[in-house]
Amino acid sequence: MDLRIKSFDEYKEKYEQSVKDPKGFWDEIAQKFTWQKPYDEVLDWNFTDPDVKWFINGKLNITENILDANLEKRGNKLALIWEPNDPRERFVRWTYRELYEKVNQFANALKNQGIQKGDVVAIYMPMIPELTVAVLACVRIGAIHSVVFAGFSAHALADRINDAKAKMVITADGQNRGHKQIPLKRVVNEAVQNCDSIETVIVYDRVGWSPEMKEGRDIWWHDAIEGMGSDCEPEQMDSEDILFILYTSGSTGKPKGVVHTIGGYMVYAAYSFQNVFQYEESDIYWCTADVGWITGHSYIIYGPLLSGATTMMFEGVPTYPDPGRFWQICDKHGVNQFYTAPTAIRALMAHGEDHVISYSLDSLKVLGTVGEPINEEAWRWYYIHVGKEKCPIVDTWWQTETGGIMISGLGEHTPQKPAHAGYPLPGIQPVLLDQDGNEITENGKEGLLCMKYPWPSILRTTYGDHERCKLTYFSTFKDHYFTGDGAKRDENGMYRIIGRVDDVINVSGHRFGTAEIEEAINSNDKVVESAVVGYPHEVKGQGIYAYVVCDNIPEDKESARGEIVETVVEEIGKIAKPEKIQFVSALPKTRSGKIMRRILRKIAEGEPDKLGDTSTLLDPDVVEEIVEGAL
Ligand code: PRX
Repeated sequence: MDLRIKSFDEYKEKYEQSVKDPKGFWDEIAQKFTWQKPYDEVLDWNFTDPDVKWFINGKLNITENILDANLEKRGNKLALIWEPNDPRERFVRWTYRELYEKVNQFANALKNQGIQKGDVVAIYMPMIPELTVAVLACVRIGAIHSVVFAGFSAHALADRINDAKAKMVITADGQNRGHKQIPLKRVVNEAVQNCDSIETVIVYDRVGWSPEMKEGRDIWWHDAIEGMGSDCEPEQMDSEDILFILYTSGSTGKPKGVVHTIGGYMVYAAYSFQNVFQYEESDIYWCTADVGWITGHSYIIYGPLLSGATTMMFEGVPTYPDPGRFWQICDKHGVNQFYTAPTAIRALMAHGEDHVISYSLDSLKVLGTVGEPINEEAWRWYYIHVGKEKCPIVDTWWQTETGGIMISGLGEHTPQKPAHAGYPLPGIQPVLLDQDGNEITENGKEGLLCMKYPWPSILRTTYGDHERCKLTYFSTFKDHYFTGDGAKRDENGMYRIIGRVDDVINVSGHRFGTAEIEEAINSNDKVVESAVVGYPHEVKGQGIYAYVVCDNIPEDKESARGEIVETVVEEIGKIAKPEKIQFVSALPKTRSGKIMRRILRKIAEGEPDKLGDTSTLLDPDVVEEIVEGAL
C-alpha cells in the first residue's frame, strides 16, 4: 500500500484536492485498507459538541492490516528490530510472520486471563519488543490499551489506572536504562494497592529479578503464554470504537485520557508515516521515542507496521555506553530514516562532534525531529554532522490529541527552513487566529494555531469526561480545534511553531501542566502554596521553575529543596523534577487572588526589567523580594 506523494507539485495538487473535497480525498486513501465491512459514509462532524466520526459503520481490526495483510506479502520481511540497552547483548529481529505469531499467542493469553472486548489494559513496560506484542494483542481482541510511560511514579500510574478502570496491568520485573536498572514491578505493586479495578498483573521477565508476586493476581508472561496457540481470530470492531487511551497534561487539573478511535487513526498514522518519512520498501526506520508517548504509538508501532515497514525499537539511552550510541546503532543496522527529539540532539551536541564524526551514517536518507521547537543551532548540527548535509530534516509538529503529524516536511520533496515545521499535510487545515478569534489571513504574521476542519486521527473525547474535551479544545474559538500553540506563518506560508500559549511546560519534549506540578509540590506538608512556570533551558528546551511559599522560609534551603523534589518524584516521576526552587514569602497576586504568572515567568526567564504593569497587584513589594532572590 503505497500512499506516498512523490514531488512538491504533487503535494500542492493533493493538498488542494484535500481541501476542496476532504471526504473524497480520504475515501480514496481509506479504501486501500482492509475492512471487514466497508463504511457507509466517510465523515460526519461538528466541533460544537464536539462529535467527529470517520468511516462510519466500517468494521475492521487494525491488526488485520498490520499482521494478516503483511503476512501474505511480507511474511519473511523484518517487522521489528530491537536494540538492547547493552550493546553486548544480542539484538532481536522478528519477521512479520514471527510478529503475527507472538501477537496472536499473547492475545490468546489475554483472553485466557479474562480480558474481553472493551476492557482497558494498562501497559507499564520497558522499551522491549514484548511491549509492541502487548499493544497489538490488546487490539487483536478488541481491548483498549492505555500505555503509561514507565518513568511515571506509582502514584501517577495508579491515577491513570483508576481513571480508566483498567482490569489488568502488563509490566516487567525491571528495566535497563544506561547504567541503571529500575524495578518496575515494585512500582506496580505499590500502585495497584490503590486500584480496585485491577484483577491481573502480567509480568515479563526482563532483568531476572524475583519481585514480589501476589498469588491469584500476578502471573509471569512466560506462564501466561504457555500452551497458547499462535492463531487468534481478530475481534470485529467498529471504526469508531476506542483503540487506545493515552494520558497527557493540560493547563488545568490532572492529566486527561486522550481517546483515539480505530478507523481514522489507522488511516492517518499510515498516511502520515509514509509521506513524512518517504519510507521505501527495503528501508530500516528508527524512531527513538518511548512507546509511553504518542510518538511511540504512532511512529514506532502503528504507522510503520501498517505500512509493512521495518521499525526499530531501542531500549536504552543516547549516552550509554557513550554519546555515540545513536550513531553506532544507525551504522550497525543501516538505518535509513531517523526520528528523534531536539532535546536529544542538544544533549549530544554538548558532548561534541567527536562522537558522531567517526560514524559513516551513509545509510541515512531522512532525519526527523519532534516534540518541541528545534533551535537553529541544533538544526544545523543535526543537518551537518548527522545528515552530512545530504538528508532533509522533517520538523514534525503535532500533538497527542492530533494522533499524527500535522505540519511537516515530506522527505526531500518540500522546502525546508531551519526551525520551521513547514506546510500542513494534505487534509490538514490550520489557521491562525487572533485573541478575538478572527482569522489572520496574511502571511508573515503570528497567531494562535487552530484547525478548522477535522482530520481522521483527531481526538474524539477525553476519557470519561467529554465536557472537558469540549472546554479544552473546542470552546476557546467557535468551530475550531485550538491547539494551545502559538505559531507564525512566513511569507511563503511555512509555519514556525513558537510554543505553548497556555500553562503547559514542555520539558525535553514532555508535556506537564503547571497545575499538576503545583499540586504535587503542595502535597508536601511544609508547603503552603506554590506557582510553577517554565524557563528556557539549554538542553531540555524548558526547565521547571517553582516559587514555593512555606510557613516560614526554610533555614536549610538545600534540604528543603531536596524534600520538595522528592515529593514531586513520588507524585509524578523523575521527569517532572523542578530544576529551580525559590522560596518566597508570598506569590504576586491580583486583588481578586489570581497568581500573576506573567510576572513569575519573566523573572524565571531572567528578564525582571520586563515585568510590565504591576499596579494591579495586591502587594507589589512581593515582586521586589522575588526579583532579588531569583535563581
Ligand atoms: O507545543 C507543541 C510541542 O509539543 C506539544 C504537543 O506535545 P505532546 O502532546 O506531548 O506531543 C509531542 C509529540 C507529538 C505541541 O502542542 N511540539 C510538538 N512538536 C513540535 C512542537 N513544537 C514545535 N515544533 C515541533 N515540531
